Amino acid sequence: MSAKKEAALAFERSFGSAPEGVAFAPGRVNLIGDHVDYNDGFVLPMPLSVGTAVAWRARKDDRVAVTASDLGSETLEFHLAEEPPVKSGWHSLVHGMVSVIQAQRPVERGLDILIKGDLPRGAGLSSSASLCVAIGRAVAEASGFDDMTPEDIARLAQRVEHIYAGVACGIMDQMAIAAGEPGAAMLLDCRTLETESIGLPEDWSVLVSQSGVTRELVDGAYNARRAECESAARKLGVESLRDVDPITLSFAKLDEVDAKRARHVVGEIERTRAAAHAIRNCAISDLGELMRFSHASMRDDFEASHPEVDRKVERLNEIIGSKGGARMTGGGFGGAIVSICHASVTRDVLNAIEQESDDRQLVRALN
Ligand code: GLA
Repeated sequence: MSAKKEAALAFERSFGSAPEGVAFAPGRVNLIGDHVDYNDGFVLPMPLSVGTAVAWRARKDDRVAVTASDLGSETLEFHLAEEPPVKSGWHSLVHGMVSVIQAQRPVERGLDILIKGDLPRGAGLSSSASLCVAIGRAVAEASGFDDMTPEDIARLAQRVEHIYAGVACGIMDQMAIAAGEPGAAMLLDCRTLETESIGLPEDWSVLVSQSGVTRELVDGAYNARRAECESAARKLGVESLRDVDPITLSFAKLDEVDAKRARHVVGEIERTRAAAHAIRNCAISDLGELMRFSHASMRDDFEASHPEVDRKVERLNEIIGSKGGARMTGGGFGGAIVSICHASVTRDVLNAIEQESDDRQLVRALN
């Protein structure tokens, strides 16, 4: 049964009658281009088939009543005018999203909401951006805000992460989720928000597996990396690291940490554009090479990997050989691994993932 159908049924069980509508937002996997979105660079994410469904029904009063059916049917209730809590998990995200919309245009009626998600949480697949975008879509549908664009919703969802979750994230996750096309990668220019949809060849597989390393204290480390990148950009006299080319960087006098962070970002932007080119040309071995370089850069220059993740990525790369590549994906410090491979090795890659993983949580983004 689809997540939307399940949400509608669970809504009926919780609230006594059918919902008026069900909104859905997917999770995302980033194929390449990590920690470059907040540096105004290029990223190449892809929406997943799994995500978050939000069933809704308008109320006559100004209250919002929420049941999260996959979180032990936990509930939350608030008034439209109430200030959202900060850093209170999903409560902050849901309440925050309603609140940032409300700050732009009046949401007149409250809502009964039921959330049903099938994305593994904390796995680097953007379950929080998926939740925010799905709530945004539900509120927009319920309030008749038909002119709200995917980009508007993405920006609002990003604001929620900044203000209510305390994560200084970029715009990649929200844009991939709000504006991505199923089954296609999205080359996103994070400075202009221009996008290009790039379909993947039919005989390629995109497999997302969990590294098994739980991401602890990630928000702090993430924000610290962003601050380091901004400091490097200031020292180089540019608005963001997007404006630095590799030659200028190699001559710049930066301290070791700044130089490493900048090297990752500048190289990763180049790799992402080259990866888009490789996909357009069906050049899977070039793409695989770029993914391996990207992983090494996240590990050595950005220092955002983990030995256990490195081991799993290396093993996958051995199996895939020249028929694609594997790398850690997303914010790092654990989380998920993305493998892109030709169909001829998909079975071997799947076997390796199954042998290794404790929880066998595997998401196939394609094939
Ligand atoms: C997290 C953030 C994104 C992006 C990635 C790393 O997913 O939410 O904005 O910075 O990490 O690429």
